[in-house]
Amino acid sequence: VTDDKRVTVLGLGAMGAALAGALLAAGRPVTVWNRSPEKAAPLVDRGAQQAATVADAVQASRLVVVCLLDDRSVYTNLEPVGAALAGRVLVNLTNGTPRQAREMAAWASARDVEFVDGGIMAVPPMIGTPDAFVLYSGSPAAFEAHRDALDAFGDAVFVGADPGAAALQDIALLSGMYGMMSGFLHAFALVRSAGVEATEFAPMLQRWLASMGGLVEQTARQVDSGDHVTGVVSNLAMQAAGFANIVAAAEDQGISPELLTPLRSLFDRRLAQGFGHEDVTGVIDLLPVHDNHQKEK
Ligand SMILES: NC(=O)c1ccc[n+]([C@@H]2O[C@H](COP(=O)([O-])OP(=O)(O)OC[C@H]3O[C@@H](n4cnc5c(N)ncnc54)[C@H](OP(=O)(O)O)[C@@H]3O)[C@@H](O)[C@H]2O)c1
Repeated sequence: VTDDKRVTVLGLGAMGAALAGALLAAGRPVTVWNRSPEKAAPLVDRGAQQAATVADAVQASRLVVVCLLDDRSVYTNLEPVGAALAGRVLVNLTNGTPRQAREMAAWASARDVEFVDGGIMAVPPMIGTPDAFVLYSGSPAAFEAHRDALDAFGDAVFVGADPGAAALQDIALLSGMYGMMSGFLHAFALVRSAGVEATEFAPMLQRWLASMGGLVEQTARQVDSGDHVTGVVSNLAMQAAGFANIVAAAEDQGISPELLTPLRSLFDRRLAQGFGHEDVTGVIDLLPVHDNHQKEK
């Protein structure tokens, strides 16, 4: 085992501990640090070295992976050790925005640190399994040089040299997830109001969502082509009329429609603009707010 193989993991919350565990499982020597040191014990039992300070942890490896709560907690801990990080590779797997990732890349560059930002598309138990994937962006050379180690977490997907690219796509994927979650929480609330247990209804909901999964690819083609008219089988006017029933039925059942009402107002706006014959996918053209910002300036 050469020193080149060693990886430092800063942060041993649910995710950081899973990342460190996956590196150990892949046979890597690992140095760990966590603000609450007791969380390192299970990893030390598995062979990890525990560093007493962030500085010691950073100095142990050329590759430093950080996974803390948020952007602020990363700076709180890395700012004092900026000089020790010089010449190393920092991979930030802390959730953040594209802007935060670009700012961290600039912060790293000013300290002669190679930087890769990442977005973890998995929950901790999935780390190290084929179900997990992690988006990366930033220095292509640093990514390639350390890809082998990063592959221990799950499929490593490099999405671009713009350090903000991984965060953007991570947040886009999470947005898709939360939209789906809004839908199924509302669905459960609705059936529960009629005494149907969620677990009884769940298989049908899962079946429906699986069959509607094909909408993702179909919508993508419509979005890319800008053609929301050809081959429409469920036009906006029909869907807007049906959506009014979704809101009314919720209210009749004593369920707040608030998870779904924003979509209704977008359907209605698009309908009022004369797009009733189109697919609902044309609603995407209502979302950019760039023009509004320009007007405000
Ligand atoms: N869990 C998931 O499902 C999941 C999935 C994808 C991405 N992520 C991302 O992974 C990151 C970590 O999530 P997690 O699930 O591991 O959260 P967590 O279990 O709540 O752990 C938070 C970690 O951050 C540390 N921390 C917080 N504030 C700190 C500070 N000011 N200084 C030093 N350390 C600090 C905690 O240290 P202590 O132990 O001392 O409190 C702990 O190590 C987040 O950015 C999250 O969005 C999580």
